[in-house]
Amino acid sequence: MKPRGPLMIEHRLIEKLLRSACEVVQQFNGDNYDPVVIESIVDFVRTYADRTHHGKEEDILFQQLSQRNLEARDLEAMNELAAEHKQAREKVRQIVVLNERYKEGDNSVVSQIKDVVLWLGGLLSEAYQERRQGVLSRDGEVLQRPGAAKDA
Ligand SMILES: [Fe+2]
Repeated sequence: MKPRGPLMIEHRLIEKLLRSACEVVQQFNGDNYDPVVIESIVDFVRTYADRTHHGKEEDILFQQLSQRNLEARDLEAMNELAAEHKQAREKVRQIVVLNERYKEGDNSVVSQIKDVVLWLGGLLSEAYQERRQGVLSRDGEVLQRPGAAKDA
């Protein structure tokens, strides 16, 4: 398996969860909103998507790539991905704050929470996928040791 293999498997799982999260929150209104569902989404995004998955990208892949002579468009794509990871962290913080307000009795935050979760779903967009694909396609050059087995 190429180095990007595990990252791509993780992408599929994250996409699946984000799709489900968007479907669920679209059904929410002031009457059926469930803060525990939101806490579960936050837990998945923080623990798996961000700490585990983005951690590998930022701490290993991006670090290695940044030491190479990347083409300008690949460097730009990598920087955009890193910026989007940061933005996503901020959005998750917003969800947590808003969800706490809901639990304190403020039903008016439901539509804001929906908007932010749907923003996270926007990370499934084609443009994001293309940037990610471009950056990941460079992993064979930087992460695979010379003489390592080819993709299985
Ligand atoms: Fe990723």
